[in-house]
Amino acid sequence: MSKKILVTGGTGYIGSHTVVELQNAGFEVVIADNLSNSKIEVLDALEQITGIRPLFEKVDLSDAQATSEMFDRHGDIKAIIHFAAFKAVGESVQKPLEYYRNNLNSLMNILDNMRSRKIKNMVFSSSCTVYGQPDQLPVTEETPRKPAESPYGNTKAIAEDILRDFCKVHPEISCIALRYFNPIGAHPSALIGELPIGVPGNLVPFITQTAAGIRKELSIFGDDYQTPDGTAIRDYINVVDLSEAHVVAINRLLEQKAVQNYEFFNVGTGNGLSVMELVQTFIRVTGVKLPYKIAPRRQGDIEKIWADTTISNKELGWEAKKTVDETLLSAWNWEKRVRGL
Ligand code: NAD
Ligand code: UD1
Repeated sequence: MSKKILVTGGTGYIGSHTVVELQNAGFEVVIADNLSNSKIEVLDALEQITGIRPLFEKVDLSDAQATSEMFDRHGDIKAIIHFAAFKAVGESVQKPLEYYRNNLNSLMNILDNMRSRKIKNMVFSSSCTVYGQPDQLPVTEETPRKPAESPYGNTKAIAEDILRDFCKVHPEISCIALRYFNPIGAHPSALIGELPIGVPGNLVPFITQTAAGIRKELSIFGDDYQTPDGTAIRDYINVVDLSEAHVVAINRLLEQKAVQNYEFFNVGTGNGLSVMELVQTFIRVTGVKLPYKIAPRRQGDIEKIWADTTISNKELGWEAKKTVDETLLSAWNWEKRVRGL
């Protein structure tokens, strides 16, 4: 039986790591990506790591016709993992239409094709951003969602609603939304990793670029939060652990083990770490100098969030395994390889 999986956004950061895990698990992968935020050379790295070059389709999934034509070329897709989206929170505030159009049209084009071509399974990239600043911590899947702080966050909330409503009237189709917490790190081979374009907005790429001497110093946004050391708390999850959750979710769908045809799960470690703790851990495990200063809070940031993973551990039989130490080392090894250090 064909085990062909369509991975949209598969040359991107999380997508590329997931392609490795899928191919290692014996799945045949087709990547669909328009390379708006990734590079075609990722295919070489994927081949180097797994020995298999995934099929690749350069396509803009927000274009309905191009998307349909791409599906025409692949009649035997069993499931889809839909990563493709724009993801820069700040940029989404400046360009709301671009974000809504790209992220939501892509999703709806794919659902259209699932419906007409009888593709029954999808895993969707959602985010803990749907919880906003929760009233209680840690957040479980039952924690109420809060209104989104940014157009980007809103695309995730709306996408979840679209999936819920779509699944209601399509009992033959099953979707799992995975709510990622903060993915960090890189593949242990250092052949793939996160490659931000321009000045990184996220913490770990900013740390590794500062350590590499590309940025003068790291700004720690706020030290006056209601947390033990005053800096904000997040649940940082290793990208390989996160990728494995996708393989588990795909198997759950293909083996028809989903309890409902629309499910959503937290994908985090269950541990909260402050910005300062992360910075200090990076310095300790790498032995590298990391200049930093305390700066004002960043607008729109939440104070603290981390996951309750009881349900995903139990229902998916999955848990994050990698330590923060090895994860930060992997991010550093990737940065060093990219910079030729
Ligand atoms: P990424 O930008 O590295 O990967 C996304 C990929 O999608 C890129 O390769 C990009 O070229 C592609 N893409 C975007 N729009 C497209 C379109 N219209 N057609 C075809 N390809 C398109 O991002 P990532 O960090 O790997 O994130 C993957 C998914 O996970 C996204 O949906 C993101 O919103 C979600 N997510 C990411 C994080 C995070 O911190 N990285 C957290 C929560 C959720
Ligand atoms: C944000 C989004 C999330 C999105 C993710 C990926 C929110 C609430 N969350 O996560 O939905 O999926 O980006 O783009 O919008 N920090 C610094 N200095 C820096 C950079 C970051 O101190 O130079 C701090 C931030 O203030 C924050 C923590 O580090 O407290 C993590 O920041 P970041 O990596 O940007 O992720 P989030 O904001 O949690």
